[in-house]
Amino acid sequence: MAQIIDGKALAAKLLETTSADVAEIVAGGGTAPGLAVILVGNDPASQVYVGRKISQCRKAGIRSVEHRLDAETPQEDLLALIDTLNADAGVHGILVQLPLPKHIDAALVLDRIDPGKDVDGFHPVNVGRLSTGTGGLVPCTPLGVMLLLDSVIEDYRGLNVVVIGKSNIVGKPVSMLLLEREATVTVTHIETRDLPDVARKADIIVAAAGAPHLVRGYWVKPGAVVIDVGISRVTDFDGTTRLVGDCATHELDHARAVTPVPGGVGPMTIACLLSNTVLAAKRSAK
Ligand code: GUN
Repeated sequence: MAQIIDGKALAAKLLETTSADVAEIVAGGGTAPGLAVILVGNDPASQVYVGRKISQCRKAGIRSVEHRLDAETPQEDLLALIDTLNADAGVHGILVQLPLPKHIDAALVLDRIDPGKDVDGFHPVNVGRLSTGTGGLVPCTPLGVMLLLDSVIEDYRGLNVVVIGKSNIVGKPVSMLLLEREATVTVTHIETRDLPDVARKADIIVAAAGAPHLVRGYWVKPGAVVIDVGISRVTDFDGTTRLVGDCATHELDHARAVTPVPGGVGPMTIACLLSNTVLAAKRSAK
């Protein structure tokens, strides 16, 4: 049987250290780290994600302020809110939940966030810092993926990693982090030819395509480590729905270790958001 990497337990550990960091800042006379979360519109999934982020902040002692804006909010108003938050010394992290409504230019909005407060790591300055290995804030899901991998892998040098999906949020940044560790990284996507053959050469697979059960047992080399970033809601024949990942985990007994969905990458993403917020607060105090 493959080892199941327990994302919930690892996330709980990270939340503990983050809470301790917050307590230390406050005990030293500093202000508690503050996170502003902006949600535009009523996308149901986004509402759930934002709710989780806010409630975890509360548990860790991070002050969080939620800004819920109407779906019709003009772009100018959103940009003005970001300007206000950029100038607010009590706000150390700013997160704009994606996706944004179609009339808003997401790239323009992300560009407006102060890179030092960009706890999602989506600002071009942070993207550039990641790709040159010069610090900055690292996107939460890729950071979580690396912590999950670190729990089973000590030395990445020369390992073959196949990343499935080339998104700005996961595929590209996780590839940069793996390159930094001197893995041999292959980034694949919807147009990649013979993907099962490519995947079968991997010591590590990071599946972030958002395609339910795309990665089958025969795609995975015996002993490989598989990180499943995908999370999709599927409807069974009887009409019930459930969450599934990008990997057919029940076919992966021959893998060395796999992450479950849910309970793998998801909890780590939120824990990393909180640790990024504390990091941003510490840097701003210097
Ligand atoms: N929507 C889906 N994933 C993310 C994320 O990591 N950050 C933000 N802000 N929005 C998202």
